[in-house]
Order: sequence, then C-alpha cells, then structure tokens
Amino acid sequence: MNAAVRTAAISDTEPYKQEVAISLKHLRKTFEDEDGNLVEVIRDITLDVREKEFISIVGPSGCGKTTMFNIISSLIEPSDGEIILRKWRPKERRGSQIGYMLQRDLLFPWRTILDNVSLGLELSGASKAECHDKAYDYLSRYGLGDFAKAYPSALSGGMRQRAALIRTLITDPDIILLDEPFSALDYQTRLVLEDEIVSILREFGKTVVLITHDIGEAIAMSDRIAVMTQRPTMVKNLYDVGLARQYGSCIKARSDARYQTLFDEIWADLDIQLGAHRS
Ligand SMILES: Nc1ncnc2c1ncn2[C@@H]1O[C@H](COP(=O)(O)OP(=O)(O)OP(=O)(O)O)[C@@H](O)[C@H]1O
Ligand SMILES: [Mg+2]
Repeated sequence: MNAAVRTAAISDTEPYKQEVAISLKHLRKTFEDEDGNLVEVIRDITLDVREKEFISIVGPSGCGKTTMFNIISSLIEPSDGEIILRKWRPKERRGSQIGYMLQRDLLFPWRTILDNVSLGLELSGASKAECHDKAYDYLSRYGLGDFAKAYPSALSGGMRQRAALIRTLITDPDIILLDEPFSALDYQTRLVLEDEIVSILREFGKTVVLITHDIGEAIAMSDRIAVMTQRPTMVKNLYDVGLARQYGSCIKARSDARYQTLFDEIWADLDIQLGAHRS
C-alpha cells in the first residue's frame, strides 16, 4: 500500500449527528420473473440513516440488499413505500446527492485511471481540463498520482478499488452507498482498505451505507449495523457499534471485547445453518 495515503482523520471521535440523512419508510419491492410470477424481494424496510454515520447492512445472500441500494439511488422504483432524503423529496435531484459504488464496480479497461476517475465530472458537464485537474488532485491525495496515466490492469486490486471510490467521491455526493467494495480482495488488503476508506470518508464528512457479507468488517468499520432477514427481507436487528470511532482504527476495533460479543449476536441473527451446503 502506498505510504502517501492519508489515514489521520479516522481519529475523529466526534459522534455522528442525530439528524436523519435518509429515511426509508415501509419500502417494498416485488419483481416479476420470466414466467410472469411475482417474486417478493423486500417485504418492509423501515430504517433511518443518520447524518455522517457509517452504517453497515449485513444479510443473507440474495435477500435484497443490492435491490435496496438500487431503490435508494433511483435506479429502480419501489413497489411501495417512501425514501425521504434530508427532509425533502424532489425525485429528480436524488441521484446527484448520492454516490453509488456498485457491487461489481469495474473501471473501464480502455480508459486511464485519470479518465476513469474524471468520468463522473465529465457527465456533469465540466470541461475536460477542469475534470482532469480535479481528478489528478484527488488521485495524488490518495496515493494514486503516479498511476494517473496507467490503465486499470496495471494496478493491484486494492488500488483499483481505491480509484473506484475516488470516482464515486469526486462529484461530492453527501451520501455514499458501497456495495461489497472489498469482496474481491485478499484479507490483508481488505484490512488496510477498511482503515483507509473509513478515514477518507470521515475526512469528507460523508454519510455512508456499506453492504458487506463480512460480519467482522461491519463491526470494525461501523457506527451501527442493520441485520436483514432472508428474502423477502426486513430489518431484523439494529446494533450500535462505534468501535472504529472510539479507537480511531478499524484494526484496533477488532481487539475490543465487544467485537466478539457483537459477532456472536449477528451470527445468531443470520441463522446460517452450518453444514447446509455440504453434500
Ligand atoms: N430486475 C430483477 N428482476 C427479477 N428479479 C430480480 C431483479 N433484481 C433482483 N432480483 C432478485 O431479487 C433477489 C435479491 O437480489 P439482490 O441482488 O438484491 O440480493 P443481494 O442481497 O444483494 O444478494 P447478494 O448478497 O448475493 O449480493 C434475488 O433473488 C434476485 O434474483
Ligand atoms: Mg448484492
């Protein structure tokens, strides 16, 4: 990992705000499959995400987590329910307030890192020179300045994810949705990126919602965790965590006694049957 990466801001122990950034009220989603059958995916998601908090969503595979993000970011409409952002609701502005790093957020292989990162800005109508200046500035701040002219294939998996995060941040959304940003990375890279990403997002004062399958990662990074039920999904339990904020480090958060207690409780909530996949 590049030493130029700044990780200082994670030691901010100021609590997140109590104001609500996103309020989800009785969200429901039912899809129609190829045969015309209705498939209920989200039964009822009612959840308040608070201003500047880092909240993780943990839930069984296929329960509807990505569908929930697609609804929040206006990619798809809910079948029922409401999404209220910062107490106002103009649908057409919802997209610009939200930065969404997709579950498989691939950089375009034919564009340089600089061109990949400036893409979001270009779409908003800024001049190419302006976009490049800002993109280069962001890349330099986060240890990727030397790779601006490189193509994604020249970067490690961790660097590519960092570039994808910068691409999400550069248009300055207030709310960042991260859908399993670490799933393709090796364990050590994940640990380093956890700290980096929490510190970068806190430095920018963002409200963050992270989807992850990794219970430990959720505990190490989050202020709160929402555990979802199997499909059709609902919020099963909400946990206050805050260890990363308290210790100023996701790694140190893992050595707190509450880490294991939370892990056991969340594991029990998920109700995963060990051995169910064995033949
Ligand atoms: N456009 C669609 N049409 C029909 N069914 C869909 C559509 N999008 C998602 N689904 C179904 O909704 C369910 C939930 O999918 P989703 O991707 O939201 O789950 P997830 O919790 O993100 O899963 P994972 O943990 O594997 O990423 C799945 O059964 C999926 O097949
Ligand atoms: Mg998903």
